[in-house]
Amino acid sequence: MKLWGGRFKEEESKLMEDFNSSLSFDKELYKHDIKGSIAHVNMLAKCSILTNDEKDQIIKGLDSILKDINEGRLLIEGDYEDIHSFVEMNLISRIGEVGKKLHTARSRNDQVAVDLRIYAKEKALDVVEAIEELQQAIIKLGEENNVLMPGYTHLQRAQVVTFKYHIMAYYSMLQRDKKRMKNAIDIMDESPLGCCALAGTTYSTDRMFTAEELGFKKPVDNFMDGVSDRDFAIELIGDCSIVMMHLSRLSEELILWSSKEFDFIQISDAYSTGSSIMPQKKNPDAAELIRGKTGRVYGDLISLLTTMKGIPLAYNKDMQEDKERFFDAVNTVLSCLKVMTGMLSTLKVKGKNTLKAVKKGFLNATEAADYLVNKGMAFRDAHKVIGEIVLYSEENSKAIEDLNLDELKKFSSLFEEDVYSFIDYENTLSRGIKKEIR
Ligand code: ARG
Repeated sequence: MKLWGGRFKEEESKLMEDFNSSLSFDKELYKHDIKGSIAHVNMLAKCSILTNDEKDQIIKGLDSILKDINEGRLLIEGDYEDIHSFVEMNLISRIGEVGKKLHTARSRNDQVAVDLRIYAKEKALDVVEAIEELQQAIIKLGEENNVLMPGYTHLQRAQVVTFKYHIMAYYSMLQRDKKRMKNAIDIMDESPLGCCALAGTTYSTDRMFTAEELGFKKPVDNFMDGVSDRDFAIELIGDCSIVMMHLSRLSEELILWSSKEFDFIQISDAYSTGSSIMPQKKNPDAAELIRGKTGRVYGDLISLLTTMKGIPLAYNKDMQEDKERFFDAVNTVLSCLKVMTGMLSTLKVKGKNTLKAVKKGFLNATEAADYLVNKGMAFRDAHKVIGEIVLYSEENSKAIEDLNLDELKKFSSLFEEDVYSFIDYENTLSRGIKKEIR
């Protein structure tokens, strides 16, 4: 069933019809399409292009379609070309001739562009909200686990930090992600409705009215750009890709920390799975899936960038390929944010084990060198002395603080009793930048 056909002599092949149809995926836009159409007919009536009675009949018909879809009485299926054809043809079959006036002064090009922007704004706000929920879970997990743990560089124990400080690094990343999303919303906040196919319409329509009615800041400046711009979708997938990169880094840490080799955390049973053959296994599948889905969202980004790169102005059918990639990216990031929030809200941190790792890691070696510097030694010399002490301690299975003063003095006569409190882990933490975070 088509919205066109007047100039065609032959039937479209079934193969082409199926190939051309986007209904199976753009049905996700039904609410946004109906919302856009209602704004459009309100504008047509205001500009005296439709009578108020015609407008009322059309809006009543559109509302009934929306309600029936929402309540499962009308299924979005059949051989329609797309969601726009589905809604319009259902409208005509419900309200008759007057339904044929809906598409006055409009093209599917500005229609799909506005639908997608309404959807994109809505989803971007959902992502911002889901990020905020994850940030709350991070704060709570950090507050409850202000325990010492090794901080790493090169995945080698480096200096002492706390679990709270470590996990709060992700809070900061998410804070930037949120800003990026809001900035993208601000940039895309313009309505393409009224651009029509590419060069406007002979009717005297009011684009400001529909822009306001749909909650956009203003109408787009250039019609040809308005119908063929998909930057907003690309930008949002780009922002989603960065969120996924952050979630993936966190997932990688959760996977490592939950292994017996680290044993820093316990992921709750609710977010783990077992093995069909190895009875002892408890696998961090949620974290692995988030890490895996990151590749998929990057793929969505590259796919849409590539689709758009060779398209001459204005609308071309290639652009129908934007939807699956965009829907996939935003829905994937939303589900990953929710699962990560659930996983962190139920996570147990094994503070005793993180402390044990701190003790075994010579994490006060830098501070021990600073101690000698405070006593007058040059840092490079202090670095060498402490290096020798680490070697000695390692050979004797001890930590630096386990050596007695006589042992320490063999390496440097500058050591006094006060070294022990200087290199105490809690004390090292409360000096320097760390005093801001404890
Ligand atoms: N299904 C189409 C899309 O998603 C709608 C726009 C069709 N426009 C056209 N001129 N054929 O891009």
